[in-house]
Amino acid sequence: PDLEQILSLHDFEAVARRVMGRRGWNYYSSGADDEISMRENHNAYHRLWFRPRILRNVANVDFSTKILGFATSMPIYITATALGKLGHPEGEVTLTRAAAKHNVIQMIPTLASCSFDELVDAAAPGQVQFMQLYVNADRARTRKIVAHAADRGIKALFITVDAPQLGRREKDMRTKFEGAASSAQTTGGDKVRRDQGAARAISSFIDPSLNWADLKDLTEAAKGMKIILKGVQCWEDAVLAAEAGVDGIVLSNHGGRQLDYAPAPIAILPSVVSALTAHGYMNNPSRPKFEIFVDGGVRRASDVMKAVALGATAVGIGRPMIYAMSTYGEEGISKLLQILKDEFEMNMRLVGARNIGELVPSMIDTSALHGA
Ligand code: FNR
Repeated sequence: PDLEQILSLHDFEAVARRVMGRRGWNYYSSGADDEISMRENHNAYHRLWFRPRILRNVANVDFSTKILGFATSMPIYITATALGKLGHPEGEVTLTRAAAKHNVIQMIPTLASCSFDELVDAAAPGQVQFMQLYVNADRARTRKIVAHAADRGIKALFITVDAPQLGRREKDMRTKFEGAASSAQTTGGDKVRRDQGAARAISSFIDPSLNWADLKDLTEAAKGMKIILKGVQCWEDAVLAAEAGVDGIVLSNHGGRQLDYAPAPIAILPSVVSALTAHGYMNNPSRPKFEIFVDGGVRRASDVMKAVALGATAVGIGRPMIYAMSTYGEEGISKLLQILKDEFEMNMRLVGARNIGELVPSMIDTSALHGA
């Protein structure tokens, strides 16, 4: 269909399912095992209801905000998803360009199809980019990648901590890996297993021995970049992360691609916020701001608003971005971001919030979140 006919983020997925190559579709759309967590990520949002406020003069609404101190037109970012060229011949550079146009932040994946430098070079002057890091068993190699990212002006490093081993995504495993990854950096230079799908083929370098004690070394190598742990899944680890001195966390189960039956990130957000508050890590003027992000299953601006009202700085969006990229390229991603902006404007008005600061916990009814 014509791009004009695309009305929501869901529409990109429906088109992608029909027009994408099987290998790309199976890699992007798959979740671990029975895909229970993948579906729950989105479904959990259905159990949160708004408590809208009225008569607040919402003629002008402003949903711009800051992520880790960096301006963004709305509280979302493009999260890291590997192997962009399985969906579009130009790969992740299309995301870089659309992000610039709409003033949102892109997180560059370690396993991008485009090279890291290509994606940094494609950025507009002043465009902020983050980087996602898989830690290699060869730490010298990882330190080099991190130092290079800092030198190239990357502002924050999102260390993925939910993937000591890649989950089993059976849909993906059925299509044999035929090689869409481009560079030695991408494959980590290791032996590649080609019999278990794209994900497993490219991830054999990831170090399962990674642990809390390694963070100091990585922080040093990061030369002042902000450090965020991506893939925190309970409040205890959120508190440990804050104690370890990182700048924030992403509540994430990797889009339901790792441990099946890992909880939906939005469902654990309230417990994480209260634990961090109780331990003195939230809204504490004597500490640098600790930021919480959420990703998984976000498909509407209303989903984003729920997460922000409950205490998240912003949310990451994965699959919708790569479905938009795979179907309509840069224009598709641009359209997706415009749809979100339009949804934001309308829903901010309807809920009675003039700016991001007015999205507060009392605007969300969480009573059904863990109920029957
Ligand atoms: C991912 N994700 C991911 N995360 C990461 O840290 N490194 C990576 O290389 C990838 N690669 C990747 C590929 C694909 C195809 C998907 C769908 C996801 C996880 C991603 O950053 C994020 O956590 C989820 O995508 C969020 O869920 P949604 O928005 O896809 O529902």
